[in-house]
Amino acid sequence: GAPGGVVAMAGTGKNGTKDSISKLVADLNGDKMENDVDVVVAPPFIYIDQVKNSLTDRIEISAQNCWVGKGGAFTGEISAEQLIDMGCKWVILGHSERRHVIGEADEFIGKKAAYALSQNLKVIACIGEKLEEREAGKTFDVCFQQMKAFADSITSWENVVIAYEPVWAIGTRKVATPEQAQEVHVAVRDWFKKNISEEVASSTRIIYGGSVNGGNCSELAKQEDIDGFLVGGASLKGPEFATIVNSVT
Ligand code: G3P
Repeated sequence: GAPGGVVAMAGTGKNGTKDSISKLVADLNGDKMENDVDVVVAPPFIYIDQVKNSLTDRIEISAQNCWVGKGGAFTGEISAEQLIDMGCKWVILGHSERRHVIGEADEFIGKKAAYALSQNLKVIACIGEKLEEREAGKTFDVCFQQMKAFADSITSWENVVIAYEPVWAIGTRKVATPEQAQEVHVAVRDWFKKNISEEVASSTRIIYGGSVNGGNCSELAKQEDIDGFLVGGASLKGPEFATIVNSVT
């Protein structure tokens, strides 16, 4: 795997109120996270300021999405420039819900990533297959196509983390086995070797997401090419999130 991991928590749109977030931030501030990993939280846009003003500096802040280009008259959208202004360092792009519920296309997501990087945001670039694609033996095809769309727009990978999130494992309590996850992670690393460079292949962190919890994280984290996690449900419990962070080396 690549040196140093990343663990991110992503509360979805429906998760969070001012009260629940202030409790979660208090838990996170009290958690012991001593290993050398980047820890990132991704609250909904409207709570970013609250989190920024109350959370320990040990943990960086990500948005869950952003606009594809320079800010302007795009009613209802949030620009990369605004995220920087609010103290965000990261943005999650291409999450499966953006792809499959909202309908964002691969190319559009690739352009978002390139623009966010140009503004010095770090990008958590999500990929992953649906259940029917896995069952049809298309897991690698789908993931590589999503990787290619990122590669068509991204010119420097230094600030990119890949998050492999099989859609069938997200919010379903059906975690991928360590072998299933490792198989895709190593394939993505090989894809980098063939299509970008050996250097990018060995330095880019590839994290796993989909029903990660305090009980299954350490077996997953032992896999050679799993460099961290993107955590949904289990991240809403502060102490369990710390267990997950501490499982990553
Ligand atoms: O955004 C994180 C999400 O995709 C994973 O969710 O609840 O399966 O950990 P969960």
